[in-house]
Amino acid sequence: MYVDTVLYAFVDNVPFAMRCLKQDDVTSQYINALNNEKKYLETKPVKITQEGQREYVGNVVDSCSNVLAGLFRGGELIGTSGGQFSESGDATIGIFLFDDWRRKNLGAVLVWMMCEFVRREFGAGIMRAGMKKENKPSLGSFLHCGFEIASARDEQYSVMLEQYKLKVPKGCVKMN
Ligand SMILES: CC(C)(COP(=O)(O)OP(=O)(O)OC[C@H]1O[C@@H](n2cnc3c(N)ncnc32)[C@H](O)[C@@H]1OP(=O)(O)O)[C@@H](O)C(=O)NCCC(=O)NCCS
Repeated sequence: MYVDTVLYAFVDNVPFAMRCLKQDDVTSQYINALNNEKKYLETKPVKITQEGQREYVGNVVDSCSNVLAGLFRGGELIGTSGGQFSESGDATIGIFLFDDWRRKNLGAVLVWMMCEFVRREFGAGIMRAGMKKENKPSLGSFLHCGFEIASARDEQYSVMLEQYKLKVPKGCVKMN
């Protein structure tokens, strides 16, 4: 799925934007970041190429049930979030920040902007996500935005949020 809209926010006075990714957004920096992530992007191929990722982004743009958004800081792509819609209109989201941008509390910013983006543009009322129990940065990012743990089975947490409970992370101001 693809929409032309851009969502803007200030985070500690720095402008951030979120919009759907296009094939041209697949830079070598994005590819390197994907290939550097060895632990938590379980469904990605062993080695991602620029051509392969462009094809993937093109497929998401053409799909009826998936969306892939980029998080931009002052124009630079620093992370992505994918959303998958169920028939009932719920959205399951995944988050990914490029290495240099981690440990700066931007995980919650990414979750917050994606929830807002998906609600406004696609009308999703319930958001879900899943992560390994050991993935504290991911769990923390979702909990900061108001998500609650829905189940904790084996090694995996499932978290969910009704959109009206979405919390704005500290230091964030929405622009549009
Ligand atoms: C998940 C991800 C987006 C989170 O972003 P991040 O920049 O690493 O995390 P943040 O700095 O925003 O921190 C989020 C919370 O986790 C905590 N945290 C961050 N790194 C941590 C670590 N290595 N160990 C323990 N806690 C950590 C932070 O302290 C914060 O919680 P707090 O505010 O209560 O202290 C990022 O780690 C990432 O892209 N990981 C790889 C892909 C991935 O795991 N995606 C999720 C799959 S479900």
